[in-house]
Amino acid sequence: MLLRKMTYSLDDVIKEAELEFKNAKDSASLENSKARFLGKNGLITTFFKQLASLSIDDKRQQGIIFNNAKKRIEQMLVEKREYLQKMELDARNSNELIDVTLPGRGKMIGSIHPIMRTQERIEKIFRSIGFKVIDGPEIETDWNNFTALNSPLGHPARSMQDTFYLDFKDHKNDLPLLLRTHTSPMQVRYATNNKPPIKIIAPGKTYRVDSDATHSPMFHQIEGLWISEEVSFADLKGIYTNFLKCFFENDNLSLRFRPSFFPFTEPSAEIDMMFNDGPNRGKWLEISGAGQVHPNVIKNFGLDPEKYMGFAFGSGLERLTMLRYGISDLRYFYENDLRFLQQIRY
Ligand code: DAH
Repeated sequence: MLLRKMTYSLDDVIKEAELEFKNAKDSASLENSKARFLGKNGLITTFFKQLASLSIDDKRQQGIIFNNAKKRIEQMLVEKREYLQKMELDARNSNELIDVTLPGRGKMIGSIHPIMRTQERIEKIFRSIGFKVIDGPEIETDWNNFTALNSPLGHPARSMQDTFYLDFKDHKNDLPLLLRTHTSPMQVRYATNNKPPIKIIAPGKTYRVDSDATHSPMFHQIEGLWISEEVSFADLKGIYTNFLKCFFENDNLSLRFRPSFFPFTEPSAEIDMMFNDGPNRGKWLEISGAGQVHPNVIKNFGLDPEKYMGFAFGSGLERLTMLRYGISDLRYFYENDLRFLQQIRY
C-alpha cells in the first residue's frame, strides 16, 4: 500500500517508489507513478526544495544524498519501463500471429460489359471486311455535329436531337461546344483528314436529353462510312445484311430498307430487321439509320461530289445488344447490378 504520511524520510520515498513501480501492471500506470515521485510536485522534488534554506556546506552534502536517491528511483523506473514494454510487445506479437494455413481470399473475376461485348463483336465483323475502327471525342463542335452534316443553325432536323451544351465556345465560330448527339461527326473528322477510299466504323458514346425504358441520356452508337469512286446504296444493302447475319449468328432473318429522312443522306433509309425463327420471330424491328451520303456533306468533307460517293449508317449498340440477349429494359445496362451483368458472358 502507498504510504500517506505528512513527512517522509528519503528511505521511505525510495521504498514506496520501489513498491509502486513493482505493482504497476502496464506502461500507463507506471507513467502515473513516475509523476508522483519525479514530477514537478513529486515527492523527491519536495526534498530539493528544502535545500534553499540550508547553508552552503549542508546544501552540498544533502544535495548529493538527494541526487543519489533520485537516480535510484529513475533507475528503477527505467528497468520497469523496459520490462513492461517487452511484455506488451510480446502480447501484441502473439495476438497478431498470422495463420499461414488459412485459405487465401479469392479474387473476383470481372467481365466485359454487355455493350462493350457488342462493340467488340461488331468491330471484329467489320475489320474482317476491311473497315478501319476509329475513335474520337465526345465533346464536339457545332460544325462537326450538325452544320457539316447538312443541318445548319435553325434547321428543323436539329430539334430531333436535343443535346447538352457546354459553357465553352468553339473559338472558330463562337458557337458553344456540345456533347455529340450521334457518332456521325466522326464521318466529318475522318473524311476531312483522310483521302478516299474511306472505309471506317466509329463506335462510341453519344448523348441526348432523353430518358425512359428505351432511351438513356447517354447511349452508344456505331457509325459506318464508306466513300470511294463507285460505292453505292447497293453495297450498303449487301454489307449490312451480312453484318446482321454474322452479329446474330443467324442466317434466317430478313431486312427491309424503309424510306426515311436524314439531312446528311439522300436517299435515306431506316433499316428494319425481322427474325424468321426464335421468340422474336415475325416482328419488324428498327435497327439503324442509313443512306447514301448527301453531295453537300461530301463537299463539306472537302471532296468533289461529282467524283466521290458512298454510304453511311448509324446503329444503336444498346438496341443490338437487347435483341441479341433478349433484354427488355435498357436501364439494366447502367444499374451495375452484377446479377444482370454476370448473365452475359459470351
Ligand atoms: N446519326 C443518325 C442518328 O443518330 C443515324 C444515322 C442515320 C447515321 C443515317 C448515318 C446515316 O450515318 O447515314 O439518328
